[in-house]
Amino acid sequence: MSRDPYPMWARLRAEAPVAYSPSLERYLVTRYADIVELEKTPEVFSSREEDSLLTRVVGHNMLREDNAPHHRIRSAAEPPTRPRQVRDIWSTAFATNCGRVLEDLAPRGRGDLIADFISPLVELNLAAVLGIGGVPRGTMTQWSAHMMAGNGNYADDQEIWARAKAATAEIDEYVRLAVDRVQGSADDSIISAMVHADDPLPLDEVQNNVKVIIGGGINEPLHVFGTGAWQALTDPALRARLVDDPALWRKVFEESARWISPIGLYPRQVLSEYEVAGIRLPAGSRVALVIGSGNRDSAVIQNADVFDIDREPVAHLAFGGGPHFCMGAWVARHQIGALAWPAVFDRLRGLRLVEGFEPEISGWVFRGLKSLPVEWEAVG
Ligand code: HEM
Repeated sequence: MSRDPYPMWARLRAEAPVAYSPSLERYLVTRYADIVELEKTPEVFSSREEDSLLTRVVGHNMLREDNAPHHRIRSAAEPPTRPRQVRDIWSTAFATNCGRVLEDLAPRGRGDLIADFISPLVELNLAAVLGIGGVPRGTMTQWSAHMMAGNGNYADDQEIWARAKAATAEIDEYVRLAVDRVQGSADDSIISAMVHADDPLPLDEVQNNVKVIIGGGINEPLHVFGTGAWQALTDPALRARLVDDPALWRKVFEESARWISPIGLYPRQVLSEYEVAGIRLPAGSRVALVIGSGNRDSAVIQNADVFDIDREPVAHLAFGGGPHFCMGAWVARHQIGALAWPAVFDRLRGLRLVEGFEPEISGWVFRGLKSLPVEWEAVG
């Protein structure tokens, strides 16, 4: 299942599109149209899940809130991530960060595009957008991994809780310093936006929501990057078109996010009885919106199992929908689709996969390539 969940999703879509999973204690909703319907009905499908593991790890946060309490946090945090801000403010910082990472990498001639290129780049970019400084390389990725492990810690493993707690304590301290700094002088960052909002967020809310952003803002961009780079490295005709017209990378971004959705599913809780696809969902029950399946639903997307940047544009579900639509979508699109891919394929001459590369893709809640070992002509 973890290696290839798609046959199972296809079977569920065909035979039991709303299926109860006793082990997950929730209904799996796997068809595109049903997922969209549920996302358009937030008054029934609440994000405020009881006993949420995410809330246990990071504290009260925007992703597990509804209505006005959600809107309050989201509208305080969101402005620096809007398309215009990404274009006018962050694109220069992202390009500088990309140049720095590539300068270090270019003379080496060999490396892993995930661990050695996109991971440090996404860390630098996210630190800039958040407004936290001085975090050692690799640390944000570890924080994110420990928090996400806590978010999935249904087995109540005490070591996982301990690592998640240590990570969140470290983040709290970095955020406290950042809040002190921006209180004196506002800047363009998310932390500053939260502190200086019309309805300012207190320190603990800033800390909790920064944790959510670090939890979701590292792995998913890495995974989309890996999918698109792998496709370009294995399809010479696609690569030639991308060299010719780098604007096409933006299509690669949308298709990569659709084809292997980095987030396979996310939860909602049913507030009042509701019927979908002929199944009655009782009040108090839980659902998982399986967007990794909806994005492969051939009822809506032709040849959905094929990676094809020339397909009719589709409103894919990789960023979710409704009030919780991904806050970092434009940050991700720009840093990967407009900058990282074009830069790495341009700068690392003769870029190729190492001999015998076998893609290792796993996970059905979070899914993506684990590594992308490559070689290139080592020039400074
Ligand atoms: C390709 C990369 C990404 C993907 C596929 C992705 C996917 C998602 C999805 C599916 C959701 C909705 C979850 C739900 O409704 O329960 C979400 C929410 C969110 N994402 Fe992303 N994400 C990505 C990158 C980012 C980045 C870079 C950031 C930060 C800069 C970010 C910050 C957030 C936040 C804060 C939310 C919660 C929004 C809310 O509750 O209103 N994401 N993301």
